[in-house]
Amino acid sequence: MRTITLNNGVEMPMIGFGTDISGDLTALEPTLTLTIQAGYRLFDTAASYGNQRQLGQFFSTAGIPRDELFITSKVAQTEQGYQQTLAAFEATTQALQTDYLDLYLVHWPKYGPFFETWRALETLYRAGKVQAIGVSNFESHHLDRLLTQATIMPAIDQVETHPYFNQHVLHEYLTTLGIYHQAWSPLGRGQVLHDPVIAKIAERYQVSVAQIILAWHLQKNVAIIPSTTHAERIQENLNLDFQLTVKDMAKIDALQRGERIMGAPDENYMEDKW
Ligand SMILES: NC(=O)c1ccc[n+]([C@@H]2O[C@H](COP(=O)([O-])OP(=O)(O)OC[C@H]3O[C@@H](n4cnc5c(N)ncnc54)[C@H](OP(=O)(O)O)[C@@H]3O)[C@@H](O)[C@H]2O)c1
Repeated sequence: MRTITLNNGVEMPMIGFGTDISGDLTALEPTLTLTIQAGYRLFDTAASYGNQRQLGQFFSTAGIPRDELFITSKVAQTEQGYQQTLAAFEATTQALQTDYLDLYLVHWPKYGPFFETWRALETLYRAGKVQAIGVSNFESHHLDRLLTQATIMPAIDQVETHPYFNQHVLHEYLTTLGIYHQAWSPLGRGQVLHDPVIAKIAERYQVSVAQIILAWHLQKNVAIIPSTTHAERIQENLNLDFQLTVKDMAKIDALQRGERIMGAPDENYMEDKW
């Protein structure tokens, strides 16, 4: 599994498995077993996905030493604030059956407890309870605000990124700050999979459309956490050992439409104005 080094020296797999799997949670266990067999070691979880207890049960019986797993979780909107975040960390780690997290993210920017939530993450980091801290759904103005008080630079910004919403401006900004870009919904939650331009490219490389999109992310130095409930796709999404030409990369870049799947961060969960 290819890894990258975060700005604090922590090694993180470039490809992880997204666990925001809706529907019947009993379906999750066979899927997770296959992910381990296929070689996934990074699992992207969140308190708000409602399945951390089940994931914890799985991790504790998966037969993989804890230090070989990379477990990410996120502070939910309802958990933000200094004491609330510290309590949320305890609840999350208890559910996940681990005493530390590899990466803990602020799930969405929230105006009121904005700095207090980050201060709690810094406390957890300094106490050695999390290996790295970061944010999710932060745009440049959220980062600018955070950096007026933060004493630790976020290691990661996990944001919606796919060919129809490629975040190229934010990507450049993150690069200048030394924050690693991780894509959520890297396949556009399935919405980009029917794109005719990418289908043509896939035909030439004799791989699937999903593989072309995921390889495009990796070539742009963006980490990915695709999710699937299909056995054969679990393996397929890891088989990305090919290079796209500069011309094909440019064709996919040109598909940018500025279309988000979910609302903009400032429209989601914002009780107060920025
Ligand atoms: N930080 C945040 O706010 C945030 C928000 C959203 C998501 N996330 C994270 O990102 C992860 C992934 O996002 P996502 O699930 O929304 O979107 P995604 O990974 O872009 O797309 C998943 C969809 O693509 C399909 N798919 C996956 N691999 C495929 C393949 N090889 N061929 C054809 N179809 C394929 C899946 O269908 P099947 O299951 O039928 O294969 C599913 O419908 C989540 O699980 C979560 O961990 C984070």
